[in-house]
Amino acid sequence: MAHAPTTPPRVDPARLAAAFRARFGLTPRIARAPGRVNLIGEHTDYNGGLVLPAAIDRACYVAVARVETEPADEAIGAFAFHLAAPDLDADLRLPVIDLHQGPLWARYLAAPAAILGMTRPVPSLAIMAQGEVPMGMGMSSSAALLVAGALAVADVAGVKLTPFEVATLAQRGEREIVGTPCGLMDQFASTHGARGCAVLLDCASFEWRTVPAPSTAAIVVFESGVRHKLAEGGYAKRRSECARAARATGVMLLCEADAAALPDLAKDPVLQRRARHVWSETARVREAVAALEGGDLRTLGALMTASHASLRDDFEVTCAETDALADLAQSTPGVYGARQMGGGFGGGVIALVAADAVDDVIAKVTARTGLPAVVCTPSDGAEILA
Ligand code: GLA
Repeated sequence: MAHAPTTPPRVDPARLAAAFRARFGLTPRIARAPGRVNLIGEHTDYNGGLVLPAAIDRACYVAVARVETEPADEAIGAFAFHLAAPDLDADLRLPVIDLHQGPLWARYLAAPAAILGMTRPVPSLAIMAQGEVPMGMGMSSSAALLVAGALAVADVAGVKLTPFEVATLAQRGEREIVGTPCGLMDQFASTHGARGCAVLLDCASFEWRTVPAPSTAAIVVFESGVRHKLAEGGYAKRRSECARAARATGVMLLCEADAAALPDLAKDPVLQRRARHVWSETARVREAVAALEGGDLRTLGALMTASHASLRDDFEVTCAETDALADLAQSTPGVYGARQMGGGFGGGVIALVAADAVDDVIAKVTARTGLPAVVCTPSDGAEILA
């Protein structure tokens, strides 16, 4: 679906706090959680493979305060939400037991508290959110919203969580309350991001480390005009194909095997292509880390471009618009490499661009598409603001 270009304005947390006080008469705790880019490692997270995302300098902010006036506040499962989303001009009061019937925006806001409330006492809460992560561009605006919500709600409820627990709480909210069968990459990048760095995560062991991002190249995300929606079925279908390929290979997670097992899948060419993407992509992440650490941006760019071809030909999650946009970016001087980013079937194209060519590249590409580009700076992960 084509849509109007939208790069949201920056959020001012002080103004969010003022709007919260004006609406609810309460002073909130505010959490900030960034969106992410993914340099390489697409559709590998839920297969136990490697990913290389980075938190970015665009975030969602969630303001939360305890509402003292509700009855039965502290009983498990008996709390209520007062929700507001100024960007949507939406406002709602909802008991947690009715959350599944609530509108989608309300489920996004309330999901972390609903999950936390399954096992711990959670008070009734006022929640207001604002975001500056572009939506539908593969930059994980929804994960940012849920991570910020998880942090703020845990803080107000007096529950101490590690960054990993915050990430998994947000992921459970997205899977169980919003209904998107996502992996953990986006939430993990949002909670573990570090300024100037990408995050190398092994999605089988959850071992991770930072890898310095290139200092002589910029990360630019171009909008394709096709909004991707994970909930729409293509993503879930790929997940189940990967699960079937894993079973046929005799492993639990596809990345417990590797390309040596390709002949095992010869009877089902579709599953063979899906597995070939996952295995080649995880290998590319390994090579990309070596290239990054060796300062070899040409190789890193070539790996990103190869990732797009694999997403297009083997995993079949690109579309005409992102293929054309990736081709355009790849053939623009100053671009090391480019590929579709995120869950697929649209969204944004991430390009690695020589720092001194950024303005020129953006001007050339956006002149052809008429759609915006966002320069992303690898940034720190989620935090509670003072
Ligand atoms: C979405 C999901 C992630 C991951 C990517 C594809 O962003 O939320 O968990 O699976 O798609 O790499």
